[in-house]
Amino acid sequence: MMKTSPATINLPDWTDPSAAAWISSPVLGGPRTVSPAVYYRRGLRIEGGGPARAFLHITALGIFECEINGRRVGNEVFAPGWTDYRQRVYYRTYDVTSLLRDGENVLGVILGDGWFSGHVAEKDRQLYGEHPSFLAVLEAHSGGQPAVLVRTDAGWSYSCGPILENDLIMGESYDARRELGGWSSPGCSGAWLPATIQPAPDIVIERSPGPPVRRMESLPGRALAAPPDVSWLPFCRRYDFGQNFSGRVRLRATGKRGLHLQIRHAETLKPDGSLYTENLRSARATDQYTLKGEGLEEWEPRFTFHGFRYAEITWQGAAADLQIESLEGIVLHSDTPRTGEFECSHPLLNQLAKNILWGQKSNFLEVPTDCPQRDERLGWTGDAQVFIRTAAFFMDVRGFFHKWLQDMRDAQGSDGAVPAFIPFTGSFGSAGDGGTAWADATFICPWTIYLCYGDTEILREHYASMAAYHDFLGAHRVKDHIRSHPEIDGWGGFGDWLALDGSGVSSGGTPKDLIGTAFYAYATDILSQAAGILGKCDDSALYRALHREILEAFARRFVTPDGLVVGGTQTGYVLALHFGLVPEALRSSAASELVRLIVRNGNRIGTGFVGTPYILHVLEANGHLDVAYRLLEQEAFPSWLFPVKNGATTIWERWDGWTPEKGFQDHGMNSFNHYAYGAVGDWLVSSVAGLDIEEPGYRSIRFKPRPGGSLTRARASLLTGFGRASIGWEIEAGELLLHLDVPAGSRAALDLPPACGQAPLALGSGAHELRFPFPSAGG
Ligand code: BGC
Repeated sequence: MMKTSPATINLPDWTDPSAAAWISSPVLGGPRTVSPAVYYRRGLRIEGGGPARAFLHITALGIFECEINGRRVGNEVFAPGWTDYRQRVYYRTYDVTSLLRDGENVLGVILGDGWFSGHVAEKDRQLYGEHPSFLAVLEAHSGGQPAVLVRTDAGWSYSCGPILENDLIMGESYDARRELGGWSSPGCSGAWLPATIQPAPDIVIERSPGPPVRRMESLPGRALAAPPDVSWLPFCRRYDFGQNFSGRVRLRATGKRGLHLQIRHAETLKPDGSLYTENLRSARATDQYTLKGEGLEEWEPRFTFHGFRYAEITWQGAAADLQIESLEGIVLHSDTPRTGEFECSHPLLNQLAKNILWGQKSNFLEVPTDCPQRDERLGWTGDAQVFIRTAAFFMDVRGFFHKWLQDMRDAQGSDGAVPAFIPFTGSFGSAGDGGTAWADATFICPWTIYLCYGDTEILREHYASMAAYHDFLGAHRVKDHIRSHPEIDGWGGFGDWLALDGSGVSSGGTPKDLIGTAFYAYATDILSQAAGILGKCDDSALYRALHREILEAFARRFVTPDGLVVGGTQTGYVLALHFGLVPEALRSSAASELVRLIVRNGNRIGTGFVGTPYILHVLEANGHLDVAYRLLEQEAFPSWLFPVKNGATTIWERWDGWTPEKGFQDHGMNSFNHYAYGAVGDWLVSSVAGLDIEEPGYRSIRFKPRPGGSLTRARASLLTGFGRASIGWEIEAGELLLHLDVPAGSRAALDLPPACGQAPLALGSGAHELRFPFPSAGG
């Protein structure tokens, strides 16, 4: 048992190898197999009443949970989170004063594989290393210099316990008969072996700028009608949590000792009621639990999560061997506080907004992932930039993106290239170009965070990265101001990913050099503005001049003299109009052509990831609000409401993830929880309800209600840095009735629908109730 050590450290130096050592164990799984989680413990004796304050600093290459004297430290899940462990890892500091006591104490750590040595995407395990390890210091403050109470060193011991397998993608396996009773309390006996010291990794160890993952909500599981119990088949119970989400189950059951349960997860069911798991690809997404048979048992896995709405428990034996008291769904995501609310008179649009929010909850877990269920779960840059504006309404994602943009800087190649997903899991130092609209997240994400939160710091932090990627483009991807010029760029990016525009290919039919040049213009404009804000006037002027040249080059190459856009796709028109690439005199004919394409398509959308976020904005800005509402309220496939009508509780990856005619899309790529098409949330808020940004961070709010379609009322509210801003409108007897809240310290401009025939009004802080004549709801 260790005595209180007199050695002292200063808090910032606790990670120094002279203060503590990285420790591990020889327990190891193979690259294709699985490994158990390892339990570590260290005793310490405290005399004389204990310290006034005690802090535990801890980090790991792997994921950990800590206990002191049998009580959990903190409430974080998957700490210390996912970074490129070849370069950086974050640490956590917990105030553990109340967990310590006079006399014997035990500090315990359970260490899991996590992203460090578990499966990441479809790759083999052990991407970053074979053995998880950790570093910790327990520090006491009682006036004067802080003292180290415990450090990680050779005095720790380890044991394997009940967690026989732990893998974020495959699942967790727990044998309750192997529990190490009281393992993190004094007096625990058993086979504990000495931990091994590891060489200290040469990486940055610092405090995380982002929020941790936590258990955020719980959803009751509803038992579904069970398939008939047949003695030669496993017994089977299925549950519906009513919501597709990321997390895991919490089981409360009694049963026979040694009974082995398999818990499988799925987003949806097949017509025969069985789980649809083909779209999980190689993700086993199966947890296993073996009962100890000592009364009511309660279990929730620690080191895994799944993307699912349904769970199925099966066992061999007799039906009576198991009594399930309850199965709860535990929702996990990064603790990004909820900030925005949207609601309107159209129930399906309300469900759409709810689905968008759940897409965000399910995929903002350490990094903005594409999807939580299949063997992918990567920080796809394109998806993140498409959705960020919507995300920043529903939740406070500022810290979350500060963290992910640091991941992005870590992933950027020395040539400036930004990869397609971040953290980058490819070979270290050779990022490769993620391509148009994907790697452009390097411009769009910091810029959006700046607009939504007035955060100039993020521009400062990320400016060099943006400039480096822009230089990369200039050097390798651009010819005569055309990005992805076919003569120099054979790939050209992912295109208008998953567009249903008649092209029959997943990259859609919009020419890649058109998309490339449109985003090159957008990126250059962002850089010019960011440089101006940061006081880099020369840079700003250079980018401004370049931006003008790109606009001209775009118009020359992609816009005909009568306002047609090359390629003839909805997305081509949307990008050209949204990024100001169509000469002023031709805008109205280009917009009419876009409308013609939409009408010809049966008032249905044909855009993919790239065009979808902007299409309704473009229609509205060019005098076609009625068409925007026709797309928004469309219920036939493809549309936003088609999945809603078909019971979706999240946003589907593909417009045709499931159709009555064809059933499920290609299983290889058919997520029911991809947020990209949820980017329409931005238009719901900024135009349907009418809450928009006039000056960054909502210093000035732009109220811009645009009633239309069948809607008779809508409202949105947002917790800004100044306080709660809200708008609610209602159409009542030919009048538009508005309730507006402008928080103290902010102001607003009210931009009324054209039908009101009113010039914009300036409003000060406070509550406002206003009425205007409003002849028709058609906009
Ligand atoms: C992901 C997407 C991603 C894409 C790149 C897919 O596998 O799920 O959301 O952006 O690859 O095209």
